Amino acid sequence: MSTKKIILDCDPGHDDAIAMLLAHGNPNIELLAVTTVVGNQTLDKVTQNALAIAHIAGITGVPFAAGCHRPLVRDIETASDIHGESGLGGVKLPKHSRTLDPRHATDLIIDTIMSHPPKTVTLVPVGSLTNIALAVRKAPKIVERVKEVVLMGGGYHTANRSAVAEFNIKIDPEAAHIVFNEKWPLTMVGLDLTHQARATPEITKAISRINTKVSQFVVELLEYYGESYQKKHGFNSPPIHDPCAVAYVIDPTVMTTQKVPVDIELNGTLTVGMTVADFRYPIPKDCHTQVAVKLDQQRFWQLVIDALKNIGDTCD
Ligand code: BDR
Ligand code: CA
Repeated sequence: MSTKKIILDCDPGHDDAIAMLLAHGNPNIELLAVTTVVGNQTLDKVTQNALAIAHIAGITGVPFAAGCHRPLVRDIETASDIHGESGLGGVKLPKHSRTLDPRHATDLIIDTIMSHPPKTVTLVPVGSLTNIALAVRKAPKIVERVKEVVLMGGGYHTANRSAVAEFNIKIDPEAAHIVFNEKWPLTMVGLDLTHQARATPEITKAISRINTKVSQFVVELLEYYGESYQKKHGFNSPPIHDPCAVAYVIDPTVMTTQKVPVDIELNGTLTVGMTVADFRYPIPKDCHTQVAVKLDQQRFWQLVIDALKNIGDTCD
């Protein structure tokens, strides 16, 4: 399997944290940069969380940069109901002296894409699409240059923030509109897929058995996140959304996908932020978007567990 170069744009966030660990621990992923965006919590909180996760996992030599502190048009809407006031509720983060790259996330994204050969860098946004939308407006040439965009967000039949909208899209639909309408190959790993990635008690036990500080950190994340999901959505086992996008980049055969045009609802009175997938026949030949449909759960969790094993014990 060839190595995939990625930029992870995130808002940690419990599942974002696991996505970062999966990217770091998988030997076929080269993490080029991590950028943060307002979402699960304020920009400052998610950025500090990202740095702390990097410290826990021993991620070195990867630039981290902070991006947009608010959506393009709308007011800030966080997910403290799921991720707590800190954005990583239930865990105590270590003190560390890590610092940020001085660039704005959008500049780090553009510089990273442009300094690598064409079609070698995959963008993996797992938060709102604000940074990516701004980057593409600032440097439209990145559209031609990236290999593909693989994002966690949306859902063709499943929603969580309103009756029809998923959180990452709902909090900045204008940004999502920009990103989905650029002509780069785009895979939407939405809720229809991520709701198949449930951290059952058996999965949590298997992670606990790895018995490292990093795996213990993940178990603590899952405990808090599981309780949030039980309270808020009535789920017995929480869906681990963001690592699914990373898993697709590692091995696209871990899920099935379907090519289908997707656009973003901006003006509906009940439907703002809906990812409207048009399954009508025939699918246009130039369709550049696809949606993730069915997850091979066993292989997905094996990727997560193997990555945590590979990371080993690196925490101070
Ligand atoms: C998405 O929203 C966030 O709360 C999660 O981190 C994930 O990216 C799921 O709807
Ligand atoms: Ca996220």
